[in-house]
Amino acid sequence: MDNQIIKRSPSNIAIVKYWGKHGNQLPNNPSISFTLSNCFTETKVTYKEASHDDISMEFYFEGKENPAFKSKIEKFLNANEQYFTFLKGLDLKIESYNSFPHSSGIASSASSMSALIMCLLEIKYKDSVIDLQEASFLSRLASGSAARSVYPVMTLWGETASLSDSSNEYAIPIGDMIHPVFKTYHDTILIVSSKEKSVSSRAGHSLMDSHPMAEMRYATARKNTEDLLTILKQGDLEGFIRIAEEEANQLHDLMATSTPSYTLKEPNTINIINKILEFRKETGLPVCYTLDAGPNVHLLYPDSCAEQVHKFIEEVLKDYCFENKYINDKV
Ligand code: PMV
Repeated sequence: MDNQIIKRSPSNIAIVKYWGKHGNQLPNNPSISFTLSNCFTETKVTYKEASHDDISMEFYFEGKENPAFKSKIEKFLNANEQYFTFLKGLDLKIESYNSFPHSSGIASSASSMSALIMCLLEIKYKDSVIDLQEASFLSRLASGSAARSVYPVMTLWGETASLSDSSNEYAIPIGDMIHPVFKTYHDTILIVSSKEKSVSSRAGHSLMDSHPMAEMRYATARKNTEDLLTILKQGDLEGFIRIAEEEANQLHDLMATSTPSYTLKEPNTINIINKILEFRKETGLPVCYTLDAGPNVHLLYPDSCAEQVHKFIEEVLKDYCFENKYINDKV
């Protein structure tokens, strides 16, 4: 008989960035992210017992068979088979959908890998509650930033001095520690380009292995993590803006100064950033930006100024977006 599981897991946006790793997907520095609401992956796993001892699977992305994703998942399951012995002797059919358009240039590995892990853990535990720490640990093995997608609100992944339960192996939730203002944050993703990323995150992380500024970067990220934890507790919006923008710029500067070098910002990335800075200066509103490893701009702001910011997006920023596209998301 066929069994069926459906799980949703959201994307996340890092404020302190993870860039550089070692061993089996261990981060070279801690990172902190907002967990989003509207950008998510929904995964359905249909499974039945088979007459073989292997894990056999079919994989469909948005209704179509996808051999590239299938082989990525198979490689991951084989490399970490000690954690997935419960899948042996099963036929799996995995069907995955993203709530955000494929052409939005938004990386989906965090949401898709964590959604898959949640499904697999339900096969393991049946009706018992899934241990989110285990889900974060396994998601990390599939895609580093996926470790942060299993908890709501805000998450920290990686060891940091002031939190003794922080770990490089899995993320921990920090939503309970933060000032309420940060729970109201919006993230409007301004789509500058719909193209696939020109550097995969695997290749990007490995650029850090020989980067002349690697040690400086890790020390900065460790300090920014500690400072951000204090800022988040205090509700210090200026401190938040300073760290969010420094981290975004440092990530892109690291890529620009690596060998080979990558420029992921496009002219409209810079135009949008300049407009945001002007708007902040003119209005005094606590809006800021961050960037992922791509040209799209994430505009971050508390709910208290959402109305003015939405007007600004419609009147100004939209013109710089690819086909005037943007996605409104929230913590
Ligand atoms: O999880 P990965 O291997 O795709 O790496 C993600 C790296 C960044 O998105 C650039 C930063 C981050 O912390 O999410």
